[in-house]
Amino acid sequence: MTPPPAIAISGGSRGIGRAIAEVFGQQGYTVFVAARTPAQLQALAAGWPATCPTSRLVTFCADLATEAGCLAWAAHIDSQVSSLQVLVHNLGQFAPGDLLTGPPPQLAHFFATNVFSAHYLTQALLGRLREARPGHLVTIGSVATTDWPAPLHAYALSKYALEAWHRGVRKELAGTAVKTTLVRPGATLTSSWDGIAVDPATLLTPERVAQVVAQVVAATEDFEEITVRPLVAGSDKH
Ligand SMILES: NC(=O)c1ccc[n+]([C@@H]2O[C@H](COP(=O)([O-])OP(=O)(O)OC[C@H]3O[C@@H](n4cnc5c(N)ncnc54)[C@H](OP(=O)(O)O)[C@@H]3O)[C@@H](O)[C@H]2O)c1
Repeated sequence: MTPPPAIAISGGSRGIGRAIAEVFGQQGYTVFVAARTPAQLQALAAGWPATCPTSRLVTFCADLATEAGCLAWAAHIDSQVSSLQVLVHNLGQFAPGDLLTGPPPQLAHFFATNVFSAHYLTQALLGRLREARPGHLVTIGSVATTDWPAPLHAYALSKYALEAWHRGVRKELAGTAVKTTLVRPGATLTSSWDGIAVDPATLLTPERVAQVVAQVVAATEDFEEITVRPLVAGSDKH
């Protein structure tokens, strides 16, 4: 019997990553998720049979801001499936921080979390993605690279680097059985906004971003880069 398709989502215990996990779980995918907080992974697992009754969830506790954490999770996935249909680089640390006044470790941490994790995971899992024929590498960027909002310069810089990484990897994988897509969400209602005064009605929902990811993966066309923004009030009236 053909095994179900598999997807791995970095940082999938809450927010956009969790919504992506559930959308693919509802399609019967085997879903691999890694994050740092055991309680949130356990909560996801506890609700999984009701949310995604035909899917197997495999959680893993790791700090993916480290190379060792990425390699440990990749080895775990590698030991369980012979092919990986989708790898989603969802992990991303979001916090205010200026380039000149922010503490130097913050910029290094943004790069470790938002850029290097994608690199280490892709290198380690590329063989499994190639086996999927086609495999799909989905990278979650941010509109911060187009809007460059103050005071998010340090975060935006790391997302710029991630976009450049995506474009380089896309060229290196051109003509192979591994598709690549950058999905750039606009502001989305997740714990990233905890403590920040914002009108929820002006934000995307994580579920909507997850649906876009699912549509991109299901498409027969090649989506290179896609930006998803909430409709500005009134702009749907024309
Ligand atoms: N929310 C927005 O407005 C927005 C807009 C544009 C783009 N994005 C991008 O969308 C992606 C998801 O954002 P989100 O708002 O959904 O984030 P979130 O709600 O903060 O969730 C982040 C997820 O990543 C995990 N995580 C964080 N640091 C980790 C680490 N070092 N190792 C392993 N797991 C880690 C978290 O679990 P633990 O904390 O337990 O590890 C959690 O599962 C990010 O790439 C972000 O840049 C978000």
